[in-house]
Amino acid sequence: MSKKLFIETLGCAMNVRDTEHMIAELSIKKDYELTETLEEADLIIINTCSVREKPVAKLFSEIGVFNKKKKEGAKIGVAGCTASHLGEEIIKRAPSVDFVLGARNVSKITEVVEKKHAVEVSTDYDESTYAFGEYRTNSFKAMVNISIGCDKACTFCIVPATRGDEISIPSDLLVQEITKAVNNGAKEVMLLGQNVNNYGRRFGAAEEKIDFTGLLQKISAIDGLERIRFTSPHPLHMDDAFLDEFASNPKICKQIHVPLQSGSTQLLKAMKRGYTKEWFLNRCEKIRTLCPEAAISTDIIVGFPGESDADFEDTMEVLEKVRFEQLFSFKYSPRPHTEAAEYGNQVSDEVASVRLTRLQKRHTEILDEVMDAQVGKVHKVYFDELKPGNRVAGRSDDGKLVFVEGSEELLGQIVDVKITKASRGALDGVVLNQS
Ligand code: SAH
Ligand code: F3S
Repeated sequence: MSKKLFIETLGCAMNVRDTEHMIAELSIKKDYELTETLEEADLIIINTCSVREKPVAKLFSEIGVFNKKKKEGAKIGVAGCTASHLGEEIIKRAPSVDFVLGARNVSKITEVVEKKHAVEVSTDYDESTYAFGEYRTNSFKAMVNISIGCDKACTFCIVPATRGDEISIPSDLLVQEITKAVNNGAKEVMLLGQNVNNYGRRFGAAEEKIDFTGLLQKISAIDGLERIRFTSPHPLHMDDAFLDEFASNPKICKQIHVPLQSGSTQLLKAMKRGYTKEWFLNRCEKIRTLCPEAAISTDIIVGFPGESDADFEDTMEVLEKVRFEQLFSFKYSPRPHTEAAEYGNQVSDEVASVRLTRLQKRHTEILDEVMDAQVGKVHKVYFDELKPGNRVAGRSDDGKLVFVEGSEELLGQIVDVKITKASRGALDGVVLNQS
């Protein structure tokens, strides 16, 4: 009988894909089967995030809870970025943990699971050509890592320390992987990388001359693939050729994440982001000119060390000018192994909270206007999930969540939907035609 695997995933899309890789490896090579019931699991894995401090603190209380609930003899493994940055310390603090597997070492899951107290956290490990087994949470959409690690050194960010230097995965392997997913029913691919549009900067063993724009062109030639998304691009690498490709390639979904972090050129410099407020605004204006229908989303950090009222006003001004649809906003959280954690001029939590509230409140107003304006419009929606009450959910080309009444027949279809109702998080609509 198969052993049971329970896996919890925190953090970013890359972690979601790493979880799929672990599930594939464990089910194909070690005969594990997924369960959603912790109490019946033989193996419990927590795939962690360490970008902010909160999830790290949560990890240890969670291990305690899992320990009480788990059946006798069940193993607990900690994977992901917190595994990379704390390593052995996790087992010292929580000896009930059986293994620690870093974000750069996912392919070793089948080894560590067999050893007591194994710790695999090396960040120079190259798994860029490792052939993972096949597993997709949703067969209609494929997530595909195109690079691992990050070569940037944003001074607030722990990711380069946990995921290591950036290595791109050879484009032929990517085409093979995506073609396989398409043959298994996926019409959409989400290309993943910590700095996705820096693709091609460095390969491991392979030698290749291709950049992200070239990769987009190569991937769009795959028959049967209808939609391409990607995350997260860096504003600095959004050159004209890339934006032209984004706007003119019909397979590329018109949704783009442009992570601002701060609107103040001075703070962007202290963050080592490599662009100015003007460059950022210029890139967003270019997107709006080439592609007025595109939805632009962003990440913003408030309370970065040294952020003055004037700096924060710059951020508010960029929000006002670009009118981001989705906003992921955070209070700055000092992280180990980062330069900014050593900066002297930390902003008080009180000030950061006031700024975050103001930013989020204004963004909510913008979002409400954007969503209300959808009523009466027609969106092409790719349906991929059945919901209770005879409802089906999917995403519009520009990434909005859309619900309609319907059943299985809609799954895997891209269909015109007329929007009838809007709320902050989703749209309701009616199907106009079905191909
Ligand atoms: N390039 C990555 C960024 C990883 S971190 C990606 O594609 O997702 C995701 C977001 O977390 C960042 O864009 C930033 O806004 C936020 N973040 C990172 N480090 C942070 C910190 N120390 N404090 C607060 N927010 C942080
Ligand atoms: Fe982090 Fe900057 Fe890379 S936010 S993941 S160091 S691009």
